[in-house]
Amino acid sequence: MSDKIFIFDTTLRDGEQVPGCQLSTPEKIEIAKELELLGVDVIEAGFPVSSPGDFQSVMEISKVITNPTICALTRAVENDIKVAAEALRYAKHPRIHTGIGASDYHIKHKFNSTRDNVIERGVRAVKYAKKLVEDVEFFCEDAGRADNEFLARMVEAVIAAGATVVNIPDTTGYCLPLDYGNKIKYLFENVSNIHKAVISCHCHNDLGMATANTMAGIQNGARQVEVTINGIGERAGNTSLEEIAMILQTHKEIPYHSNVDSKRIYMLSLLVSKMMRMPVQPNKAVVGRNAFAHSSGIHQDGVIKHRDSYEIMDPSDIGIPQNSIILTARSGRAALNFHLKRLGYSLNKEELKEVYERFLVMADKTKDVKDDDLIMLMDGEVKASPIKVEYVQVLCGDPIQAVATVDLKIDGEIIRRSADGNGPVNAAFRAIDKLVGEKLEVIEYLVQSMNGSRDTGKVHLRIQKDGIVYQGFGVDTDIVVASVKAYVDAINKFPIAVLKQMVRPSEASAAVVANS
Ligand code: KIV
Ligand code: ZN
Repeated sequence: MSDKIFIFDTTLRDGEQVPGCQLSTPEKIEIAKELELLGVDVIEAGFPVSSPGDFQSVMEISKVITNPTICALTRAVENDIKVAAEALRYAKHPRIHTGIGASDYHIKHKFNSTRDNVIERGVRAVKYAKKLVEDVEFFCEDAGRADNEFLARMVEAVIAAGATVVNIPDTTGYCLPLDYGNKIKYLFENVSNIHKAVISCHCHNDLGMATANTMAGIQNGARQVEVTINGIGERAGNTSLEEIAMILQTHKEIPYHSNVDSKRIYMLSLLVSKMMRMPVQPNKAVVGRNAFAHSSGIHQDGVIKHRDSYEIMDPSDIGIPQNSIILTARSGRAALNFHLKRLGYSLNKEELKEVYERFLVMADKTKDVKDDDLIMLMDGEVKASPIKVEYVQVLCGDPIQAVATVDLKIDGEIIRRSADGNGPVNAAFRAIDKLVGEKLEVIEYLVQSMNGSRDTGKVHLRIQKDGIVYQGFGVDTDIVVASVKAYVDAINKFPIAVLKQMVRPSEASAAVVANS
């Protein structure tokens, strides 16, 4: 058996299912192109039958990606499979990923069915998919909690029906590494035709064991891993790509390898975090801000004397710039362009001129400009946003009642609202609520310093409206302004029809909220 591990990236499917992390088709295309450069073998681009947006994304990604296989998810339902094949029609290497529940929890409670019946449905789905594409992957959902004997029967049946890859998901993140590894081993020992297919691991991180389980799967014969950038995904997320790639690269004693160009990991981690408005936890393995930061005196001393004393990886292996960016207000356009290119932005002369002007304003305020700052500079203001923040003024203190005035630009018209509140942020949000005619529900609000300095603050927040969660992000040297930007960023993500209905610049709507 080959020791090559196929990297199946599902950032754009399982990762994108996270509430508030939805991406537009152009954003997905940008990530897909970076995934191709990273060297992944398969890109799961979406679940075409689930929405017109997913269908469109799978189709557009199929057109522009050359090397990796493009995969589309379906249920074991004919129409899903037919729609997936249509979405994949431009793919150079298309794959349909179909499947059904394998645990009794799913068989009895989700499908109200029997073990024999789900096998039959799975086999039918594979046979139908095989008529439309050559490469068919089958997922045995909740395999982590499935009875191994039954699972082996299911795997054998779908391989006999033509499945080229069989996915053994630990859907609920329940398995212990030893048990998951033994499950894969059991399949290799008890499925007569197993060598006709690649066995794939798809682990969730509910108990923090996704990476350990995936490694156990590899060590027992699995040769494909289903992963996401930064480990994003449903609930506690999926196995993270960067962890698996760096385990394979760092542990020289194990024979497995992947095609991942590890030097592109850091940049892609920043890109996904920024696009999905999903901050990376500072202590996240491999890509967290603190992953290579030694703060204790003993560690610092050890690293200075000999790097290997406390570091098992070199930050440059994942593309963290060595002589961290030195960009200041005195840096020229070429230096700025160099670092923007490194972060994946390519600008024409005119765009660079415009960005350079904003860069100088920022550099003046923040002294030295770091990667986070540059990303904010490029994406902090989404040009196509329907609502823009024009002006923010607050009066606050103790014992003063906080008052805020906010000007927002909508369809070229500047509208001003003022409100009081129990603090400056609350007052500013209330002023915006007046504009949208509704008191919005903030369910999470996080302020952090940018780059650990006190110069700039970044705000991540989440608003819930009609049961849907919208994420917002804002950065500014003033944290109230950053909060307003984040609030408006989240509002800008409301569906356009909802937004149009809400935003009534008339004083009448302002009065409704003022009295609420
Ligand atoms: O976690 C899971 O079981 C999945 C399947 C749909 C592959 O994401
Ligand atoms: Zn999953």
